[in-house]
Amino acid sequence: MEKQAALTGLLGTELPIIQAPMIGASTPELAAAVSNAGGLGSLGTAMLNAEELREAAETLRGLTNQSFNLNFFVHREPDLADYDANRMRTALMPYFSEMGLGEVPDPAAPAPAFNEETLEALLDIRPKVASFHFGLPAPETVERLKEAGIAVIASATTAAEARALETGGADAIIAQGHEAGGHRGTFLDHVDLGTVGTMALVPQVVDAVTVPVIAAGGIGDARGIAAAFMLGAAGVQLGTAYLACPEASVHPVHRKALSEASDHSTVVTKIFSGRPARAIRNRLTEEMRWHEDDAAPFPAQRPMIAPLTGAGAKANHAEFMQLWAGQAARLSKAEPAAEKTVRLIEEAYRLLGR
Ligand SMILES: Cc1cc2nc3c(=O)[nH]c(=O)nc-3n(C[C@H](O)[C@H](O)[C@H](O)COP(=O)(O)O)c2cc1C
Repeated sequence: MEKQAALTGLLGTELPIIQAPMIGASTPELAAAVSNAGGLGSLGTAMLNAEELREAAETLRGLTNQSFNLNFFVHREPDLADYDANRMRTALMPYFSEMGLGEVPDPAAPAPAFNEETLEALLDIRPKVASFHFGLPAPETVERLKEAGIAVIASATTAAEARALETGGADAIIAQGHEAGGHRGTFLDHVDLGTVGTMALVPQVVDAVTVPVIAAGGIGDARGIAAAFMLGAAGVQLGTAYLACPEASVHPVHRKALSEASDHSTVVTKIFSGRPARAIRNRLTEEMRWHEDDAAPFPAQRPMIAPLTGAGAKANHAEFMQLWAGQAARLSKAEPAAEKTVRLIEEAYRLLGR
């Protein structure tokens, strides 16, 4: 319990459970429900500009006075000078034609990575927690955030990344196993190296760092949480499990696909954004598999494929949608987020005999 207490003290929560930040899916209502129930609610704010970030935080503050987490991407800005979009354009064109769409748009970064402007907004907002994906900002920036009373947490997909994050000033590490839904947080090495499963990753990260470790990836129910605690994790971060909650913004077709998913329904693909991310297989992920290496550098691939995934969503056509999910989607119970938060931790402690 000591480890859990250290983490909840850091996060300012009652329970050692974080609802993962999820762009597009994590609404203020979802985050507030989790925070009000004693967990840490998060907003997927990585693609927002400073003004939108302030607005999102204000909306959330209107719904909860508890701790919450805002999330940012610290990827390198894509260098498009040497990128030839023609092969990706040719690969996508048949699908665009099938859906009656025009030309495949040019690659472009839809939003900048974490920058000075976002930093200033974040310092004004002062959430209890800020989380980072794809690495950490510069140590001076991390220091400024910590001085402002903001706990800084970040994702690692290997023990080496966890050590780098601890050296960079992270207050806690999210050990993200390969089972995880959405984007892999890998930032140090080639992404192929960041494929360690949660069961193997968590204890090795726990051994590698002194700060609290938060297990993420494929944790779908209380058994997974209890197992993570046994592996030495101080807390857990769940994404896919919260997609099943009514407060999450999830397209009905996506919701249905999640409820019908089996253990082998998902695949890691670069075709939606340019970086590896786990989603439910469909025609797009399977047929575009051979063109993964032609994807524009993250996140510049997004605008190229967005008209297609947008049209797919509009037409309720699962085969052309972006159906993010982790490997444990099947375990997710559809229930209000507050109930889920409390139930999962209570059940996990019961399993552990606490
Ligand atoms: C729909 C979806 C969107 C996600 N978006 C983000 C995001 O914006 N930022 C982030 O740090 N992680 C994001 N993630 C990854 C989560 O932080 C977390 O690592 C993952 O959900 C854990 O695995 P699980 O889905 O099996 O619980 C996303 C995950 C999902 C399922």
